[in-house]
Amino acid sequence: MNLTTNYLGLKLKGPLMPGASPLVDNIDNIKRLEDAGASAIVMHSLFAEQIEGNKVAFDQHIDRWQDNFAEATSFFPSTDGFAFGPEEYLGQIAKIKAKTELPVIASLNGTNTGSWIEHAKLIEQAGASALELNTYFLGTSRRLPATALENRVVEITREVRKAINIPIAVKLSPFYTSVAHLAGRLEDEKVQGVVLFNRFFQPEINTEELDVTPKLDLSTSEDLRLRLRWLGLLRDQVSLSLAASGGVHTPVDIVKALLAGADVVQIVAELLTKGPARLGELLTGLKEWMEKHEYESVEQMIGALSLRSCPDPEAYERGNYLRTLQLWKV
Ligand SMILES: Cc1cc2nc3c(=O)[nH]c(=O)nc-3n(C[C@H](O)[C@H](O)[C@H](O)COP(=O)(O)O)c2cc1C
Repeated sequence: MNLTTNYLGLKLKGPLMPGASPLVDNIDNIKRLEDAGASAIVMHSLFAEQIEGNKVAFDQHIDRWQDNFAEATSFFPSTDGFAFGPEEYLGQIAKIKAKTELPVIASLNGTNTGSWIEHAKLIEQAGASALELNTYFLGTSRRLPATALENRVVEITREVRKAINIPIAVKLSPFYTSVAHLAGRLEDEKVQGVVLFNRFFQPEINTEELDVTPKLDLSTSEDLRLRLRWLGLLRDQVSLSLAASGGVHTPVDIVKALLAGADVVQIVAELLTKGPARLGELLTGLKEWMEKHEYESVEQMIGALSLRSCPDPEAYERGNYLRTLQLWKV
């Protein structure tokens, strides 16, 4: 059985890898993930705010959004709270490379072009095999049109592309009006892949304390379905590598992501709750499914159920929408 897959031009021994999270801050965990069959390590993000300094980043946010909250300084954690500072991050890349055989995909997280992009060069020099770029920000202002938000993602990507030669994957949000168009623009900027998708932590209202707090709920397999839709829609419209991220908890989830069109599958919540060895169980489950369904390779599976054979995806989506709502029986 052949589990190899190609992601961002890297030939990987299998499709499973931990996604960006604190799980991979620790070398013991990374070694356990390698033993369990992970094919690469996606590092926890290094944030632009860490590189440029909280103060500068904070001032930029204030200017840009004309935010009047004096207490906004408290929105940013102090740099002491992060596992690695910018220098240590480079050291961690070298350490992972020295202690494992795995390709290292570093992760940079920033919302505007700026001096932090220079750090991508250092990440490349430190030996990262690829870079995942996370440009998470929420368009909160009524003065900010959708095109300006997308242009910002493209501009950041362009600057990072200019700075480095290693492959780049952009981790996208599902909340763009036209995900496929944006993915196409990123392909034009010569990135090698996209990660579908970022997962957002929505605010919660505490009705006793009358307070609004960010709340981190880990994903469930339900979260995967949004990813499946877009993996299937993008697979044959772009030549980019596609990574599934969000809602993968079981071997069947992995099978679905691959059939929809993912080249690799990133896993976080399931590994955070069950530990690195869980990746091995998931891989065994995938192999069992492949044997039962007579698939000899992961490559055969990738995109087998994409929307390739669908002449009109828009009509297909609309038709399914109508059918689902109209055929519901009370
Ligand atoms: C505690 C925690 C920390 C995370 N840190 C990062 C990060 O630094 N950078 C990033 O791009 N994504 C980060 N993520 C998002 C994950 O990489 C992933 O996209 C998300 O959790 C969905 O995958 P899952 O359903 O397998 O958990 C984090 C998620 C969690 C739960």
